[in-house]
Amino acid sequence: MKCIIYVFSGTGNTRRVADEYARRLEGSVTAIIDIDRDTVPMHDADADMIGIGYPVHAFNPPHLMISFVRKLSNETPRPLFIFHTGGEGLHLNDSSSLQLRHILRRFDILSERHYVMPYNMIFRHSDQMARHMLWYMGKLVEIHARSLMEGIHERYPHMPLRHLLSIILRIEWPYSSMQGKHMKAGGSCTGCGLCARRCPMQAITMEDGRPIFHTGCILCTRCSMSCPADAISIGLLDGWKVNGPYPLDEIERNPGLKDRLAATELPRLYRKYYREADKAIMSYETTDCVR
Ligand SMILES: Cc1cc2nc3c(=O)[nH]c(=O)nc-3n(C[C@H](O)[C@H](O)[C@H](O)COP(=O)(O)O)c2cc1C
Ligand code: SF4
Ligand code: SF4
Repeated sequence: MKCIIYVFSGTGNTRRVADEYARRLEGSVTAIIDIDRDTVPMHDADADMIGIGYPVHAFNPPHLMISFVRKLSNETPRPLFIFHTGGEGLHLNDSSSLQLRHILRRFDILSERHYVMPYNMIFRHSDQMARHMLWYMGKLVEIHARSLMEGIHERYPHMPLRHLLSIILRIEWPYSSMQGKHMKAGGSCTGCGLCARRCPMQAITMEDGRPIFHTGCILCTRCSMSCPADAISIGLLDGWKVNGPYPLDEIERNPGLKDRLAATELPRLYRKYYREADKAIMSYETTDCVR
């Protein structure tokens, strides 16, 4: 089997999940393509399966992902899996793939999966919580990759009320695009230009050594998180800004952190997601023993 994964990742979390799929699909993944505004699918590339990954923004995919998937929908249909990451495990996040499923209705959608990863907006998770998230993500991807190799279909159930709420929250798309104009760089900006080079929407230009922010932003937070001078204010949402990237490699190797927290040590919001994850892991390990 040959597989191509198309992934959008503002701050690296979803890319990390894509890398984990590549590892667990045991050599089947021939390319992981990081998409931006101008990416086009590798026309009818020699792949038996396609993966699509994105971060959930306001219970929807970032608009860039919708545009990309419209281009992909003209390709030869084939088996496809969708994965998304979010800072929490609410099932409302599952509604985010609704429109993608509709656009890709000619394709055989094998699975839709949500992985909890550290928030890049709202608040910063502790390193210990990030380690817990990474441990579960690795374990769940192992299970989900096995299901893909066995051709098992596992899609989200129909959830009309959640879908309706997610449709209403698409207001985030025009909002992000407009609010990009209100982002600005403060006095600590050194004019290095990294933000402009890394913006996936080309919504930042450098003028007289200063970044200028334009419409078209998708609020991925890549520019503000990766700014070496932490100089970027993200407008009205600045109070929710998470400063600086999570050092996930270091967090994963840190011997002072536990792989996973007990249910009682988790914030309430996360308990249901990890209870369900524990069930999936236990069932996989039991079946694996029988195999
Ligand atoms: C504008 C914005 C909206 C977000 N909305 C949600 C959300 O609705 N649900 C959620 O679980 N996480 C939400 N998050 C958190 C991200 O989805 C999460 O941190 C994700 O793993 C980031 O992935 P990335 O590093 O690949 O961009 C939001 C983040 C941003 C920047
Ligand atoms: S990345 Fe930061 S320091 Fe560099 S130009 Fe952008 S705002 Fe200024
Ligand atoms: S301006 Fe910043 S937040 Fe907006 S799309 Fe570009 S990198 Fe992402």
